Amino acid sequence: INSMPGIFRYSLDRLDEIISRASKNQIPAVAIFPLIDSSKKDNKGTEALNKNNVVCNAIHQIKKLNKNIGVICDVALDPYTSHGHDGLIIKNEIDNDETNKILVKQALILAQAGCDIIAPSDMMDGRIGLIRNVLEKNKFFNIQILSYAAKYASNFYSPFREAVGTSSNLKFDKKSYQMDYKNTEEALLEVKLDLDEGADFVMVKPALAYLDIIYKIKKKFNVPVFAYNVSGEYSLIKNGIKSSLANEDIILEVIYSFKRAGANAIVSYFANEVIEKYLSR
Ligand code: PBG
Repeated sequence: INSMPGIFRYSLDRLDEIISRASKNQIPAVAIFPLIDSSKKDNKGTEALNKNNVVCNAIHQIKKLNKNIGVICDVALDPYTSHGHDGLIIKNEIDNDETNKILVKQALILAQAGCDIIAPSDMMDGRIGLIRNVLEKNKFFNIQILSYAAKYASNFYSPFREAVGTSSNLKFDKKSYQMDYKNTEEALLEVKLDLDEGADFVMVKPALAYLDIIYKIKKKFNVPVFAYNVSGEYSLIKNGIKSSLANEDIILEVIYSFKRAGANAIVSYFANEVIEKYLSR
């Protein structure tokens, strides 16, 4: 991925390379994101509901390679839609409730494929409760829901959008469903709603410019909080190191800031590197 030095997309036949590295490093879970061929994208994100899509096949394959590594899957339509949005566009707006109908189906398909943690990153309102319901109804009692509860409309996502091929498709921003970075209270409210609807843990995203949000959520709710050290944070730091503006040890320093703020888990493109360099026993 051009904007993310050291990070690669993997085809299914080469998944073993990254899964064995993660397994060796005792990483408890991997989050997978698809790059969908543009010929399979449409305005409804239909490919998201294909039981044979690349994400479902990747889950099967990862479980074959290491049945003990957890698999986290995004629930959102953006990799699959021709417009690059996480939801359906109806009358020039993202339609929350129509989108939820599809997200629920997507979540069930991921559960059936063997995903361990369902991670709705779409930011529609009410989807956690609906997804919890459908999982219960289908007897998926042990699947956990990681809600991207505090997800900001951020400028730090650009490299990710390049990676999943959505940046050139996006015609308007995601501010109608992702949060305004000027707000704190809204994040706390979103967390409360998602926990009430049945989320097992919550995500704060991005992480580095949002340490206060991690801290406040942890203090107020005392639930497991995940920090998502997003693509733009990775690229800025990597490029800073590359151009000798910073020493490599800046990576561990940043990772510890998430832990200090109260994160119980860290999702990071630095994961393998940090463990191999500093934390392997
Ligand atoms: C979208 C999604 C995004 C990321 C994860 N899921 C980007 C977005 O909201 O546009 C970003 C991750 C990153 O930047 O590392 N459902």
